[in-house]
Amino acid sequence: MVRLLRAQGKTVAVLLIDPSSPRTGGAFLGDRIRMQGFVGDLGVYFRSAATRGALGGLAESTARVCPVIEAAGWDVLLIETVGVGQDEVAVAALADLTVLVLVPGMGDEMQALKAGVLEVADIYVVNKADLAGADRVVQDLAATEALVCAEGAPRAVLSTVATTGAGVEALLGALAGLARRPAAETLELPAARPGTATIDHLGVAVRSISAARERYALLGLEVGQEEVVEQERVRLAMVDAGGSRIELLEPLAEDSVIGRYLARHGEGLHHVALRVRGIDARFRKLEAAGVRLASERVQVGAGGHRYFFVHPGAAHGVLLELVEAAE
Ligand code: CO
Repeated sequence: MVRLLRAQGKTVAVLLIDPSSPRTGGAFLGDRIRMQGFVGDLGVYFRSAATRGALGGLAESTARVCPVIEAAGWDVLLIETVGVGQDEVAVAALADLTVLVLVPGMGDEMQALKAGVLEVADIYVVNKADLAGADRVVQDLAATEALVCAEGAPRAVLSTVATTGAGVEALLGALAGLARRPAAETLELPAARPGTATIDHLGVAVRSISAARERYALLGLEVGQEEVVEQERVRLAMVDAGGSRIELLEPLAEDSVIGRYLARHGEGLHHVALRVRGIDARFRKLEAAGVRLASERVQVGAGGHRYFFVHPGAAHGVLLELVEAAE
């Protein structure tokens, strides 16, 4: 995969998760040896990490390393987990797409069924497809998929031979064809680059999030989990909108900010939120410049992110929220 992605001109970062050596706690070095063909290629970054007893098939550091690699501008990030195990599905929550790789003759497919890892895969791959029994694994997976696939297209079952590269191009093609999974479930904010601001979300005042949920479903969009923000007396839920988001705000009280907004204007666009860095310095600078703010201080919101509002009277008629991700 790395070789083909490089041929497409993409930079590739690879995180290889090794099972910890029971004796030393260090990683096996096999993965490093496998990646030696790319030594000297500055478009390839690889790093092994030992699980050190962490569960879920990932190393304890993996979730923290991924945003750093993304922010550093790598085109593709591949994460290889320790393998098919009891509950090694944590990668599915972290990665945009999850590929389950099985090999013939290992009983892996049965193990995978038991472990519940089939559900988290976006694509199944049977590697070592040149070995006896590979066709059988492909057939079994396809049959299982046809049974369990309740709606939509069944997941692809592909065959590869990693040593020759056979089937790998088809795998990359299939991955490219799959849409990015929405990350609307959490309020975790991607980091902003220094000196830039991107639109983090658009805040929309609604009377009922559950009614909005139905409407967005008709649009083919999923409304994420609802959260209550006590200090704003509001219930909110996010809709993923490709890197940015729509924040649905339902008032918990008539005399709350959103309650009063609804009474005066009805449902509609309430604020525009910019994702920034150095939010404290920005707040102090605006305050010192006498800019009319709609927050007395920088507030801490759901998920630990920090925010404050600039009054519409000082922002060209738009209530502006500045928000910074939690450290
Ligand atoms: Co907001």
